[in-house]
Amino acid sequence: MLPRRFCDLVGCEKPIQLAGMGHIAGIELAAAVSNAGGLGMIAMPMVPADRLQTILTELDGAATGPFGVNFLMPFLDLDCVAVAADGARVVEWFYADPGPELVELAHDRGALAGWQVGSLVDARAAADAGCDYIVVQGIEAGGHVYGRQSLWTVLAECRQHVDVPLVAAGGLGNPAAVAAAFAAGADAVRVGTRFVAAVEADAHPDYVEALMSATAADTELTTAFGTMWPDAPHRVLRSSILAATELAADTVGEIDLGGTTMPVPRLSPIAATAAFDGHVEAMPLYAGYSVDAVTETRPAADIVDELIGGSEALLAAH
Ligand SMILES: Cc1cc2nc3c(=O)[nH]c(=O)nc-3n(C[C@H](O)[C@H](O)[C@H](O)COP(=O)(O)O)c2cc1C
Repeated sequence: MLPRRFCDLVGCEKPIQLAGMGHIAGIELAAAVSNAGGLGMIAMPMVPADRLQTILTELDGAATGPFGVNFLMPFLDLDCVAVAADGARVVEWFYADPGPELVELAHDRGALAGWQVGSLVDARAAADAGCDYIVVQGIEAGGHVYGRQSLWTVLAECRQHVDVPLVAAGGLGNPAAVAAAFAAGADAVRVGTRFVAAVEADAHPDYVEALMSATAADTELTTAFGTMWPDAPHRVLRSSILAATELAADTVGEIDLGGTTMPVPRLSPIAATAAFDGHVEAMPLYAGYSVDAVTETRPAADIVDELIGGSEALLAAH
């Protein structure tokens, strides 16, 4: 009943990918999703290559299934890409026009290559660049959003014209939405916001609390958190825009990123991890429409079972 193409490609059992989510999705969460049968992912912007190497070695020891590394193009470090391609099954990029050089780099070192896109034009470019799979993201997504169309519109267009495995992303928070994505031709789903509230995530508890009390109507697509990364739309809880705008200070607090403590400028895109100390309410509280389904913290394996087991049951019943 469930699609197999993505699973067969990357070697996972269940057609679900953890979204790369900055320092929110670390070793523990990536391993938990991988061990539950999905594709675990990490994304470590601003971490040097030797530290990424150590993280990947640890993840390799903790994960029984495949995992990948996600890179945000505005913060790309080529040494890190090489380390990722040597140590992970999948290397993936987001937030630029897809090109063949990075894909070749991953392939030459034995990794699969993926790109998250938000339009048919970019999906075609990713396929032409040699990507092994493409993540199709709709504007319902939490975090940064590259396209301008709803998931259902862009997924239908891409499915019609692109033949590589497609992973649907954006607002997929419950079994019915996941089943709908499979029915629309997705080979897997990519889930972010739901996993921010997984017990293994490195999210700040106040951020998780805010997600649990919010609905999709409380989210907004904005460019407000543009310090360090201007003009890049992202979906957050509206309350965080208001809190950050009203704050008088230049910094919102301090964060420990891989052993280095640094001040966090007001309106910067850095996510509210457990290692942040300060005004969490004024951090970008990234949230997709899927926030509706965030009602409690649960182990990642339970979230995988709920979404994949539930969607399978729905598809079988109809
Ligand atoms: C907290 C958070 C951080 C994110 N960081 C990244 C990232 O570093 N790289 C990336 O490709 N996408 C990132 N995204 C976007 C996801 O890849 C994905 O498109 C999105 O989570 C899907 O929508 P959902 O949150 O409703 O599941 C992030 C999303 C969230 C919620």
